[in-house]
Amino acid sequence: MSHQSDLISRDIHAYLKEQEKKSLLRFITCGSVDDGKSTLIGRLLWDSKLIYEDQLAALEADSKRLGTQGDDIDFALLLDGLQAEREQGITIDVAYRFFSTDKRKFIVADTPGHEQYTRNMVTGASTASVAVILVDARKGVLTQTKRHSYLVSLVGIRKVLLAINKMDLVGYAFDTFESIQEEYEDFASELGFDEIVSIPLSALKGDNVIELSEKMDWYSGVTLLDYIESVEVADEASSKPFRMSVQWVNRPDQHFRGFSGTVASGSIRVGDSIVVPSSGQTSEVESIVTMDGNLDVAGPGEAVTLTLRDEIDVSRGDLLSATDARPAHADQFEAHLVWLHDDPLLPGRSYLLKSGTSTVPAQVTHLKYKTDVNTLEQRAGKTLELNEVGICNIALSKAISFDPYDENRATGNFILIDRLSNATVGAGMIDFPLRRARNIHWQSLDIDRTARAEQKGQNPCVLWFTGLSGSGKSTIANLVEKKLHDLGKHTYLLDGDNVRHGLNKDLGFTDADRVENIRRVAETAKLFVDAGMIVLVSFISPFRSERRMARELLQEGEFLEVYVSTPIEICERRDPKGLYKKARSGELKNFTGIDSDYEIPENPEIVVDGGNSDPDVLADKIVSTLLSSR
Ligand code: ADX
Repeated sequence: MSHQSDLISRDIHAYLKEQEKKSLLRFITCGSVDDGKSTLIGRLLWDSKLIYEDQLAALEADSKRLGTQGDDIDFALLLDGLQAEREQGITIDVAYRFFSTDKRKFIVADTPGHEQYTRNMVTGASTASVAVILVDARKGVLTQTKRHSYLVSLVGIRKVLLAINKMDLVGYAFDTFESIQEEYEDFASELGFDEIVSIPLSALKGDNVIELSEKMDWYSGVTLLDYIESVEVADEASSKPFRMSVQWVNRPDQHFRGFSGTVASGSIRVGDSIVVPSSGQTSEVESIVTMDGNLDVAGPGEAVTLTLRDEIDVSRGDLLSATDARPAHADQFEAHLVWLHDDPLLPGRSYLLKSGTSTVPAQVTHLKYKTDVNTLEQRAGKTLELNEVGICNIALSKAISFDPYDENRATGNFILIDRLSNATVGAGMIDFPLRRARNIHWQSLDIDRTARAEQKGQNPCVLWFTGLSGSGKSTIANLVEKKLHDLGKHTYLLDGDNVRHGLNKDLGFTDADRVENIRRVAETAKLFVDAGMIVLVSFISPFRSERRMARELLQEGEFLEVYVSTPIEICERRDPKGLYKKARSGELKNFTGIDSDYEIPENPEIVVDGGNSDPDVLADKIVSTLLSSR
């Protein structure tokens, strides 16, 4: 049963070839050090004489050196979990260990069990088929057991091995085992697992880990190693319909046009029909090209280039799919979102959503509720903090193709990326597409923006004033509007204080509310531009992300950011509304510049010094810059 091949030292490549034939089980262990998790993993590795890490290191060095020889297949398997994380730029505390027995190979993801490590667990579990959940027989089902089980179910694991450990410390008592088993099964009934197998163990003494224990003759089940060697896990990705996210369109010359990517699920044969869900166009596969020659058939994990029988439009991000089992294609969906970053989720902020090879701007439009990972209770909330899980609606700026995560783990997941720092801030699982926007089409109107602008004899645009409270934004914007008006221009001024009395009177000054404040005013400014107006917007607008979002709503050259740069000391001395005083005394919370951030513009079109200069002179400067640029 146990396995350590001499081949490793004699002929590493022959060993790897041998390994390729065995099936692979990825599993995750959940529990804390106190539950005996390290002991259990240690015993598994030790007793079954598995591969040790120094051997792995040698293996890695070897395969790097010889990587072009095509023998590094197992290494990809071994390291891909980690690589994916590195690409996503998050530091995740998950140790992956590889080992094999005569019957199977294993990758075990070992994650710390504390609550703040939710993100580690979610990452470690996302590719696993089985979870080994440890409980201490003396303590039974704890809050952390529930948390681990919920997260495991969230990422789609359907088989659980409940390892009831430290049986030696409860006198190997059947009653203890049975009551923990019952309590767990009762709790887990709502989590949708297909199979829960409980095993009484002592990792320390070795009972029921590799060999059946003589001390628990009342137990007639399998050992832990038996279970992981024999548990049936359908090769998930292979049993799903064909999906391949196009990474690039390969067109070296006019004669060849292929679509390259890695098969995410299902298989594809020459002659199979495929559909491009974004357009509904279909064709058949003419050839499957790889670095090592053409194939008749390709399956999950294989990097291929497909050529098609017809000239149809395919671009990067398209999810080539089986015609008889098509994915969803939508620009809104509901999802379970796990927050991975210290900065909380700001609904309304524009993030980048990456799913497969498509990356599109996306907003969380509605946080329906959060799930308390400890109690599974639903809670209301406006934002998600690090390690929290929420159920939310997400709207994309462009439709993408996907499957509900429940149906296909490979094509139903996504990550959210902060657009300024490029950090991965969230990971999600898609529940279902929302068809809301589908029946609302753009109404094409006979009088369009060009006609409206022409009638007014001007080039519509937005002058976006940003700066601290008291910096002089509104004073200067007001003067600019007057001057433009005198020149016969058609203008409109949107001012923070005024808009907050009407359209935005439901919003306060939390980060989330400010994001929504700016989102609404940016959309309003866009409508005014469409109406042919020169729009002046005077809002603190403290965050770069939202100013950028406003810019992106408009066409090139239509958005001029005016940074009214006034030192906070001067703003505070002016204190026209007495708000700085209140903020300093603690009476007013979240005040910009005091206990709420202001992110200085990086590349504004215009910077004016609102501290010492004459506002009238500054207004003239802005008007002349505007008129010369448009
Ligand atoms: S923004 O940050 O969301 O862009 P906005 O420009 O709409 O702010 O509103 C700012 C005005 O609200 C300030 O000029 C000030 O008069 C008032 N105000 C009241 N509370 C605050 C606060 N906590 N932070 C900043 N401004 C506040």
